[in-house]
Amino acid sequence: MKILAIESSCDETAAAILEDQNGQPAVLSNVVASQIDIHKKYGGVVPEVAARAHIEAVIPVIDEALKKAGVKLVELDRIAVTAGPGLIGSLVVGVETAKALSLAWQKPLYPVNHLEGHIYANFITGGGKKPEFPLVALLVSGGHTMLIYMENHLDYQIIGCTRDDAAGEAFDKGAKILGLPYPGGPSIAAEAQKGSVAAYNFPIIDLTQAPKRNLLGFLEKSELSLDFSFSGLKTALLNKTKTLKMTPKITADLAASYQKAIIETLVQNSLRALTKYHPKTFILSGGVAANAKLRSELEKAIQSKFPHTSYLIPKTCFCTDNAAMIGAAAFYHREKQAGDDFNPEPNLELKSLS
Ligand code: KG4
Ligand code: ZN
Repeated sequence: MKILAIESSCDETAAAILEDQNGQPAVLSNVVASQIDIHKKYGGVVPEVAARAHIEAVIPVIDEALKKAGVKLVELDRIAVTAGPGLIGSLVVGVETAKALSLAWQKPLYPVNHLEGHIYANFITGGGKKPEFPLVALLVSGGHTMLIYMENHLDYQIIGCTRDDAAGEAFDKGAKILGLPYPGGPSIAAEAQKGSVAAYNFPIIDLTQAPKRNLLGFLEKSELSLDFSFSGLKTALLNKTKTLKMTPKITADLAASYQKAIIETLVQNSLRALTKYHPKTFILSGGVAANAKLRSELEKAIQSKFPHTSYLIPKTCFCTDNAAMIGAAAFYHREKQAGDDFNPEPNLELKSLS
């Protein structure tokens, strides 16, 4: 099976070609036209500007993906496209292009949820371990922070999510507060390398409810929460900067301590999910999964506390937005999931397809 996948949900125009290799999706080409340089001067993504840039890039990017893979149109079996969630003006470009190509080339079209794409980045074959079910996925991106339990393919049970900001948003907003360039994640990660994690004490947010008294008056512990909250952490950083006379050393120390708090919160809830669900595999995914410190801290924590759980992370190029992950998800979709009767959906929820 050969798949052309298209992704345009935010600020990357991407296309990839995948093929079946021993029952797993393998990437033949993965082209990403990033708009980072365009949005950098505004300090964040400007939706109208992003939509226009997608229109210009989408056909050349698809063309390049096909050429690099050496695959001809007639050889394609499926076209996959991100249907949401994302920016509406950006999504429309990918979806309408995919619908037009599907009609013109007579190829079945598979709408893919961007979030399942992030998860399925872990199923791209790279010669390493293959995720085994049941699994728990930590999905950390610019718009989402979730823990997901999967007993099988396309079966998503959300067991934890953020009540306010996403982890990526915490990085992006934190970087703005510290005067570091967009996108904030890589900026904070680079700055943190120069600073000390022990310099400042930022809160590790735990949303577990306080114990309640039962009818007999005894205190009953509530279940440990798997939900996240990052907006208080961001406010703590803002308040701290107001009390300090900023210097390069202070900026680096704040970045290191702030990043540590985000990572510890993610590790804390991941370990709780492993305790509760004892899956065979734990996978990390989403743009924030490109963070080297997060990758290694999670690995350390899981190896020491859950040595029998296998821990998988995608290559960094498949963490931030790309089309290969969208194709990987479509690889596992069933034929009945094909069709063009769908519209781009900015708030598309992650729902089981099984
Ligand atoms: O998945 P993604 O590319 O786009 C969305 O679906 O949102 O994630 C983007 C997010 C941004 O918030 C960005 O700052 C963050 O991922 N990010 C990182 C790193 N690289 C990207 N966060 C921390 N460390 C990184 N190295
Ligand atoms: Zn994403």
